[in-house]
Amino acid sequence: MTLIDGKALSNKIQQEIEEEVNKLKQEGIIPGLAVILVGNDPASHTYVNMKEKACERVGFYSIVHKMPETISQEEIIETIKMMNNNSRIDGILVQLPLPKHIDTNKILEVIDPAKDVDGFHPYNMGRVVEGLDSFAPCTPIGVMEMFKEYNINLQGKDICVVGASNIVGKPMAALLVNANATVTITHIYTKDLASHTKKADIIIVGAGKPNLITADMVKEGAIVIDIGINRLSDGRLVGDVDFENVSKKCSFITPVPGGVGPMTIAMLLKNTLTAAKKRRNK
Ligand code: GUN
Repeated sequence: MTLIDGKALSNKIQQEIEEEVNKLKQEGIIPGLAVILVGNDPASHTYVNMKEKACERVGFYSIVHKMPETISQEEIIETIKMMNNNSRIDGILVQLPLPKHIDTNKILEVIDPAKDVDGFHPYNMGRVVEGLDSFAPCTPIGVMEMFKEYNINLQGKDICVVGASNIVGKPMAALLVNANATVTITHIYTKDLASHTKKADIIIVGAGKPNLITADMVKEGAIVIDIGINRLSDGRLVGDVDFENVSKKCSFITPVPGGVGPMTIAMLLKNTLTAAKKRRNK
């Protein structure tokens, strides 16, 4: 069994980004990321802190707009429009989830697609599905980078994606289909999850449920990518996979923490760098 080291790969990518930023700085270019954070969700605050620190590490300019839980949709939209027109900002990210009174789709559609470094705008999502050059959501492209790094060929593979969110499952499936894999997407209404996972050469799970994938659900030699991040009541961070038992059957597996999570951050930085270069025709 090979452990897929997302942390090491993320560090390597961040180093490459830092080197490129140093070159851009000589031309007076500093990539900039604006993050909008609404409310007090502790996990969202943790993620945004990590994103801010990562920006600092590679030499980006970054700002975080913290807004109270009670903010109106119009005020968020006005802030995004300001960022769309701010020449120091190359990437705009609205941390999700948003409070219930906010229509998330309406918010995401206001972001200039050229600054949509999360790849959540329907324009970019459509381009991802069509296999065109575009910003794609950071977690799925982070997983694709892992496959590339570990020389895992996807063509003709049976891949089961567990979870059908707009952020992870759906764009993940689109990227895999474009890499010529045969993809099954399962979700909470799937009748018999195990019947699908057992047949899969590769299982990619992002459902947010500890121990959802157990050893009896995994084929011998399968590759398992765990996108889940769950905080247990004892404070431990675990994924969606029963790592201890599933890892014994796998050819490759990602750990939690230290797997997909750090890759998401690296891909956010990469998308922001790409946005900064594209805006200047580089
Ligand atoms: N919430 C959970 N994951 C993400 C992500 O990748 N981007 C944003 N903006 N919000 C999230």
